[in-house]
Amino acid sequence: MKLLHLDSSVLGPHSVSRQVSAAVVERLRQANPGLQTVYRDLTATPLGHLTGLHLAAGQGAAPEASLRDDIAAGQAVLDEFLAADIVVIGAPMYNFTIPSQLKAWIDRILVAGKTFKYSAQGVEGLAGNKRVIIAVSRGGYYGAGTPMAALEHLETYLRSVFGFIGVRNPEFIAADGIQVGPEHREKAVAGALQAAGSLAAA
Ligand SMILES: Cc1cc2nc3c(=O)[nH]c(=O)nc-3n(C[C@H](O)[C@H](O)[C@H](O)COP(=O)(O)O)c2cc1C
Repeated sequence: MKLLHLDSSVLGPHSVSRQVSAAVVERLRQANPGLQTVYRDLTATPLGHLTGLHLAAGQGAAPEASLRDDIAAGQAVLDEFLAADIVVIGAPMYNFTIPSQLKAWIDRILVAGKTFKYSAQGVEGLAGNKRVIIAVSRGGYYGAGTPMAALEHLETYLRSVFGFIGVRNPEFIAADGIQVGPEHREKAVAGALQAAGSLAAA
């Protein structure tokens, strides 16, 4: 079984989502001793923003020399995603949604003919055989009925993205209220780490 582990926080060792995503991977590693893990830090080696030249290259045009490495990197992340049985993503909330580094990765894996296709019935997801677990960290609280609920575009967005490619039930572990105060942070991190440790094995 293959696991792809991604992080996208810019806060390095101070990151909550990195701590929680690592705990998720550790839990799954212990539960599945033969697990093969690939790790990608989307902030240490960021992908470029998608441009028209990327799309033209995808249609068969010879890529500009300056883009060749980035196009190869995009192919590599797509191949990693397609090969994975389990995908674990550390996803902090920045300005109400995901970091742009994670969006750049999504732009490389939502590829017609690879992870979804158009058919007479509409869109069909092709990646529904994967288990996706997302470690979310947010500075505030965005639960249903809270004043900030309408500003939640991280979890809702990722549910849409993964649902589009066929992953109907992505699993979320959230650490919320990280910026509200030290006690809130401590409690949220402890709760998320406990949830990570209690994840179903496979
Ligand atoms: C650039 C930046 C933007 C942020 N924007 C938001 C936000 O819109 N809403 C929120 O609740 N918290 C926001 N926060 C707080 C983070 O979500 C919180 O610190 C979280 O722990 C970040 O995850 P990380 O520790 O893995 O980086 C922001 C933090 C940073 C650094």
